[in-house]
This record gives sequence, C-alpha cells and structure tokens, in this order.
Amino acid sequence: MPFRKDFLWGGATAANQYEGGYLEGGRGLATSDAIRGGDKDHPRKYTVKTKEGEVLELSREESLPEGAVGYIIPDIYYPSHQAVDFYHHYKEDIALFAEMGMNSFRFSMSWSRVIPDGVEKVNEEGLAFYDAVVDECLKYGIEPIVTIAHFDVPMYLADTLDGWHSRKLVDYFLHFAEVLFTHFKGRVKYWMTFNEINILRSWMQLGIHSVAPQVRYQADHHLFVASAKAVLRGHEIDPANQIGMMVAYAPTYPLTCKPADVMASIEAMRARNFYIDVQVKGFYPPYQLKWFERNNVNIEMEEGDLELIAKGTVDYIGFSYYMSNTASADPNAEMAGGNQLIGGKNPYLEASRWGWQIDPMGLRVSLNQMYERYHIPLMIVENGLGALDVVEEDGSIHDDYRINYMRDHIKAMKDAVELDGVDLLGYQPWGHIDLVSAGTGEMRKRYGFIFVDRYDDGTGDFSRKKKDSFYYMQKVYKSNGEDLD
Ligand code: BG6
Repeated sequence: MPFRKDFLWGGATAANQYEGGYLEGGRGLATSDAIRGGDKDHPRKYTVKTKEGEVLELSREESLPEGAVGYIIPDIYYPSHQAVDFYHHYKEDIALFAEMGMNSFRFSMSWSRVIPDGVEKVNEEGLAFYDAVVDECLKYGIEPIVTIAHFDVPMYLADTLDGWHSRKLVDYFLHFAEVLFTHFKGRVKYWMTFNEINILRSWMQLGIHSVAPQVRYQADHHLFVASAKAVLRGHEIDPANQIGMMVAYAPTYPLTCKPADVMASIEAMRARNFYIDVQVKGFYPPYQLKWFERNNVNIEMEEGDLELIAKGTVDYIGFSYYMSNTASADPNAEMAGGNQLIGGKNPYLEASRWGWQIDPMGLRVSLNQMYERYHIPLMIVENGLGALDVVEEDGSIHDDYRINYMRDHIKAMKDAVELDGVDLLGYQPWGHIDLVSAGTGEMRKRYGFIFVDRYDDGTGDFSRKKKDSFYYMQKVYKSNGEDLD
C-alpha cells in the first residue's frame, strides 16, 4: 500500500477567503478586509486613507504613503467580508467534508477574530467559533490542521506599528499562538505558522507600508524568530504538537541545458529554499547573506535570535504546489503566470485560464527535491485547478478538467511515495470548496469539489452543490488513494 494508513486526506481553506462574518462575534478588522476584487487582467487593490484624508487604491507592488492607514469604503463590495460564509455554514460544510471522505481539514484561525487588535485581549466569542469548528471536525473523525497566519494581519498592528516590520509583532504573534496551543491542546495537533512565508511581501500579507527589500527582509527575520519561538512554545505546551512551516513551492527548471540557464534555475530556487533552509536547517544560508551584502540589505537582529532560529526548527514542511516554471539567462525569455512565483514559460506544458502552468510530474519533482534536501516529513497543503465552472439546468456541474488534474497530480504524488520513498503525511487540495481567490479576488476562479452559489457581483445565496469532482475525490479518499481511475 503506497500511502500510510493514517494518511491525511483533506482540503484547505483560509479564513480571509472562506469565513466571512467580518464584523461578527467581536472580530477586529484585518488588512485582508480592505482589499477589493480584481480579475486576471486587473490586479486587486487595497483601499487606504492618507493622513490628508484622501482615499487611494493601491496594488500589492505599491508602497503606502507615509502615515496612510487601511480604510474600508462604505457600501462597496469587498469579497472577503462575507467570502462564502463558512461562519454560518460550518456545520453543513463539515458534514459535506465528512461525506466526501476527508479525514483532515486545513483552515486558518483569524488573528483578529481571536485577538481583535492583535495585541493581548482575547475575544472569547471568536475563540468559541473555532471551538465549534474544531469540535464539529472531531465529531466526524476529521483531524483539524491549523494555519496560524494566512495572509492577514490585525489592522491595528498594520496601522500603528507598520506590521511585521516591527519587532513587537514577534511577541504579539507568540501570544496569539500560545492562546491557540493552550486552548486547543489535545484537540489540534497539526499546526503551520505562516502560510507561504516565501511570497509575503505586501501590505495585506505583512502589514508593512513599504515594499522595499530592506523592509520586507527585516519583516521576514521577525517571522523567522516568531515561528521559531512558536515551535518551541508549542512543543512545551504539548509535546504531541506537530508544527510545520509552509512554503509556496514551484520547481524552476533550466529553460535549456545551457550552463547559464542551469545556474539561473539554481538562483531562482533560492527564493523558496532560503525560507525552508532557515526553518528546517536552522540557519541563514550563505547564498542569502551574500545577496543581502550585494543589495545593501542589513538585517537588524537581537542577541540570541540565531540561537532561537537554530533551536526552533519545524517538524514538517507544508507546501503549496500549483505549477512549475523555467529560468533562463536570457532576460527576454517569455514569462508565465503564477501565484507570485513568477518564472518563465515551459514549451512542453499547458496552462490554466489564469496562465498557471499545469505540471503533474513537477509535483513528484518537488517532493523529491525537498525530501532529498531536508529529510523530514512533507505535507502537500495546497494543490488544485482554478477554473470556470458551469452549472447545468439540473444543477449538476461536470468538471472533468478538474478530475483529470486531480488524478494526474495524485498519481504523481503516489509515485513519489511508492517509487521514491518520500515520507508524505497528507494531501490537502486547495479550495476543496469554492472560495474567494487570493490573487484576483474572484469567485469565478473556482477550485472546489463543492460549488458555492456566490458570484463576483456579490450576489448568490451561498447554497452548496456537489460537483462531479466531489464523487471522484470521495472514491479516491475512501480507497486511501488506490482507486484513481
Ligand atoms: C496560494 C495561497 O498562493 O494559492 C491561497 O496560499 C490561494 O491563499 C491559492 O488562494 C490559490 O491562488 P488564487 O490566487 O488562485 O486564489
């Protein structure tokens, strides 16, 4: 049998894309509340207010003017405010997950729901919501897998402290993590500290006002220290805790066998490996220190930081996998799309409607690259196809394209386990229930095996329907990955 008996077959979501209820139950505002929808050709924009009172819409590559704060323009549609309303549908959703055969479910707990300003005081009602979610999962034998921070920062911390640029967030985050570890002790065992830590570089993701490398890498250092402290504390609170890091992974192949292209691919891979190296090996790798030197990035560290990073290494690597790309020494090589992991086109691959290159074998490549380099267990915590779905008159949704995508990727993952001996803990396909796209804010970019009646103009009744892929995944899950055809 290729997959271990306790293999975690699940699905993955994030609070800001799934939960909604943004003003309910005493929740505080988060940066993700002030981001509007876009589409594949129009980037999402943050709405902020300057010191002078001017309202601006900025893209994620732009810095905020000094003193600007997050601002929600009244009466316009912000996709995450209601998202797909898990807040009120959690019982129905978790029952569907159980019916699909899921034995695990990855979701994030919103910091500003648990601690509204992010600093200290716990909102009991917020915690009670996650109690209800966790208990509902356990009722069905579903193992909760919790991401502590997934693309949101309490607005107060962004507005008043410049988010993760401030060292203070290390302690505030640790407090948040301690609250969760203590409260869910014995009920939640699998945790991840920061979602896709390697692509965090915007105001929404980090609460930082400037996107300059100096600010971003200083913020990264704070994330590393916070994560290491959380790992150490989490193990103290409950030695059974398994605490992972989470990286957006895409293998970058050399475009050709020209040695300069091979070197370009090694350099491109450092954008993922740097983060895994620090969190798994426990030190800043020399290539990154050299890069800092060349680019005048000076990381301010406190005494003891490097020891903490060395001690607080993670138990497993969680990663998202959607695509591969290429690297070339030619600056004019054609580029492909992607989730901030931008790389070159591969002439051998097809791409999704959003330009993400589809490469099932790349998943096996990724699993091998990471397992051979780090030798610790891996978990695929995101994978899937964003596509346009059509609801037929009788309510059915025939998403064969998604079934094909899933089958090919699961086969590749099976090969990595069966033929290559990779230690794989589980598979959590992204957005197994439709939710708001992080990249574009769209609803119509759907990943789910469960359809949600919600559209980009803010209409829809939030009802849920099973797509054909729901039944396919049910078969896969119930056979522990044996029945794929
Ligand atoms: C990952 C994120 O980058 O990709 C998710 O962790 C995101 O939050 C997912 O939703 C898919 O990206 P998108 O842009 O299609 O939603």
